[in-house]
Amino acid sequence: MDWGMENRIAKLISPKTGHAVWLAMDHGYFLGPVSKLEKPAETVRPLLPYADAIMLTRGILRNCIDAKNSPPVILRVSGGNSIIGDDLSNETLTTCIEEAVRLNVSAVAFSIYLAAKYEHQTLVGLSRLVNQAQEYGIPVLAVTAVGKELGKREARFLSLACRIAAELGAQVIKTYYCEEFEKVVECSPVPLVIAGGPKLRTELDALQLAYAAIKQGAVGVDMGRNIWQSPNSLAMIQAIRSIVHNNATVEEAEELFNNLKKK
Ligand code: R5P
Repeated sequence: MDWGMENRIAKLISPKTGHAVWLAMDHGYFLGPVSKLEKPAETVRPLLPYADAIMLTRGILRNCIDAKNSPPVILRVSGGNSIIGDDLSNETLTTCIEEAVRLNVSAVAFSIYLAAKYEHQTLVGLSRLVNQAQEYGIPVLAVTAVGKELGKREARFLSLACRIAAELGAQVIKTYYCEEFEKVVECSPVPLVIAGGPKLRTELDALQLAYAAIKQGAVGVDMGRNIWQSPNSLAMIQAIRSIVHNNATVEEAEELFNNLKKK
């Protein structure tokens, strides 16, 4: 692996623990101002010291994140769709590799939509992005999007999506946790991180999700709503970190969460 690529990946996935906690905050690119992310800077500022990386668009990066004090950046580079548009899968590259270089990002993120109208467009788009990013030693994070069909979060579908993303050259893949998640991990020659998905009923549910994913082979989480939509987001991100990086059990992480939220 080229030095630049290796160096960037080492910024994202801790060489010490082999794991990663990324804070996803790119939702606005197709969802607009989602709850708690109406003012991204205010919501995420306290969380940044606990994030190994942040995932976001160039607009929010430039306007809401201090260039002098930022975690490594995973730049969302696909879009062109919206939650009220015709078809969520109609995504394409929304920026260029020179912009990623200008912003000194550690990775670029691109969604693929399998079994959707624009499957081909997104798969070819991912592949072309890998060609360009490889030139500059920038890793590509493929996101196995499921659109509005959350039911697609099952092992057979996600194994197919992750494997295709890896075959097309993604260095890391973001997918969903599902039953028999270990089968998804087994089929992927590159590391997987999981999204949190929509906010779960309790923080304990999200801690259990992170724990199960790590135990079954995920290298980390790229979590958004289950962290920053929690009324105790600062405690939540630290509890998640304890599971991902410190091998904490769900009970230990919950205890940490309860102690931190009292402060
Ligand atoms: C969705 O396409 C976006 O990439 C989000 O960043 C992703 O779903 C992760 O955030 P959450 O944990 O809120 O699902």
